Amino acid sequence: MPENDFFRVEGLTKRFGGLTALDKLTFSVEKGMLFSIIGPNGAGKSTLFNCINSLYRPDEGKVWFRGKEITGLNPHRIAAAGIGRTFQNIELFANMTTMENLMLGRHLHMKTGLFGAAMMFHRRSRAAREEMVHRERVERIIDLLELQASRDKFVSQLPYGTRKVVELGRALAAEPELLLLDEPAAGLNNEEKEDLIFWIQDIRREFGITILMIEHNMQLVQDVSDRILAINFGKMITEGEPDEVVNHPEVMKAYLGG
Ligand SMILES: Nc1ncnc2c1ncn2[C@@H]1O[C@H](COP(=O)(O)OP(=O)(O)O)[C@@H](O)[C@H]1O
Ligand SMILES: [Mg+2]
Repeated sequence: MPENDFFRVEGLTKRFGGLTALDKLTFSVEKGMLFSIIGPNGAGKSTLFNCINSLYRPDEGKVWFRGKEITGLNPHRIAAAGIGRTFQNIELFANMTTMENLMLGRHLHMKTGLFGAAMMFHRRSRAAREEMVHRERVERIIDLLELQASRDKFVSQLPYGTRKVVELGRALAAEPELLLLDEPAAGLNNEEKEDLIFWIQDIRREFGITILMIEHNMQLVQDVSDRILAINFGKMITEGEPDEVVNHPEVMKAYLGG
């Protein structure tokens, strides 16, 4: 029984017609780790995340989080259980400001409801007090991720690299215990990539969260990960310490061939 595991995926399988995108995948992640998933394009990495947070329903297998099975719970309940994520293609509200997007990330924690809090008129009301707490949390994230200059700008006005950081902030605003990052460095220039490494490490220290990260950039993965899982054709190639995995002959073959 996987009760001792913080997070575990067991025999996870997802088929799209004749294609098996995930093929009996099994692995565990310990609390506090930065655990990375690598593999060539089409290996099944994003499908794995989509099965974890129930955007897709797996055909077989189970997902466990903090000793409870969460397979197939609806995405909102997965988020409420403490699993947050960012997407390979950024998903933000383009016509809202950075601050507003981050406040939306907190809606899981709002008792008075998002619109109750947003439209409150009485400064001394409970909604006002509650909103202040949420704003403080969001301001802390804005400081941490150095988003002050983007705070009141519409997301549509921000450069791509900054939007990636805003999305990271939005996911953090929900106070996840486990954060799923799908290719956070994709499309970033070298300076932005270095900043991102710094932030991911900072986030772990500040908030003590466990991170599951899909990443194409091998150097980044090797630098920041505690453990790495390499997959291809939806199956595990190997799992272990960064140096072992990155230099594993089957992993090198998969990357050269892919
Ligand atoms: N919604 C879908 N419908 C059909 N095929 C899909 C769908 N999502 C992913 N796939 C296929 O599953 C395989 C794995 O895709 P994906 O998980 O996105 O790979 P990765 O993120 O590792 O690049 C690919 O062959 C992809 O075309
Ligand atoms: Mg992907």
